[in-house]
Amino acid sequence: MPDKPRILCTRRMPPNVEERLARDYHATLNPEDRIYSAQGLADAGEGKDGIFCAGGDPVTAEVIGRLPESVGIIATYSVGYEHVAVEAARARGIVVTNTPDVLNDATADVAMLCLLGAARRGAEGDRMVRAGEWVGWDSTMMLGVHVTGKRLGIFGMGRIGRAVARRARGFDMEVHYNNRTRLPPELEGDAIWHDTVESLLAASDFLSINAPSTPETRKFLDAERIALLPDGAVVVNTARGDLVDDDALVDALHSGKVAAAGLDVFAGEPNLDPRYRELANTFLLPHIGSASHETRDAMGYCCLDNLDAFFAGRPCPNPI
Ligand code: DGY
Repeated sequence: MPDKPRILCTRRMPPNVEERLARDYHATLNPEDRIYSAQGLADAGEGKDGIFCAGGDPVTAEVIGRLPESVGIIATYSVGYEHVAVEAARARGIVVTNTPDVLNDATADVAMLCLLGAARRGAEGDRMVRAGEWVGWDSTMMLGVHVTGKRLGIFGMGRIGRAVARRARGFDMEVHYNNRTRLPPELEGDAIWHDTVESLLAASDFLSINAPSTPETRKFLDAERIALLPDGAVVVNTARGDLVDDDALVDALHSGKVAAAGLDVFAGEPNLDPRYRELANTFLLPHIGSASHETRDAMGYCCLDNLDAFFAGRPCPNPI
């Protein structure tokens, strides 16, 4: 290895992050923010000691198989790591790290933005005002779904789910959740545990999806499960788009079974199902859950702390 480890950074990063990366490493940056194909990523990994990648990069088993022996670490700038073939990396002795914790609050804030934006018709109101179509106050104009006192079902009560729960309590919502395992009392607080998704859905006037994308969770919200929601429920997704069956959710939004949806993530993004754009009862954001200045810097520093530890021969703080 040369005097400093050689790092491929697959995406453009915030200036503070790139500055530290360039200071401490031989960094190959991506100022034009080109999106790497799997082939391009494998080629660009040549002669590197580590990869600093991001959500959506195709770090497949094949790409990992083509990385040179020198690559010892893949640090992803995301908490989600479904884009990295972790088992293939492990088999080659490559450490994979992610960025947990630092984005809990920012993502939970966006979950509440989606919840309120969908329930209170935020996007519709904004469009009306901008289009000059607002003709004045009206006692029945743009009535939405009331939030206070309603039951919020959280699917996936990890760190982000719990940050959503804390915020929802501030809106006087009753928090319900389903998780692989029941939380200990100090983390559960007054939240009501459901041992099945089905039981959670039946108690969810609002549903917030906060689980990772795994083979078990993909398309978990399908037509059968949507049928279990109370009529007029509101669905919020700030986790991953592929947890939702788009055909089923679009049908439910058309029929009114689901009153509104607040979505920050989509299957196949940025090429989301175009039907979401046409529905008036959707509040749509471009995957900005973690997009605050502070959080995006913190995510970068988290990746760098993992790289620093790895190359200093210390245990990485956030191994997967
Ligand atoms: C994450 O960290 O997983 C966010 O979705 C950004 O990709």
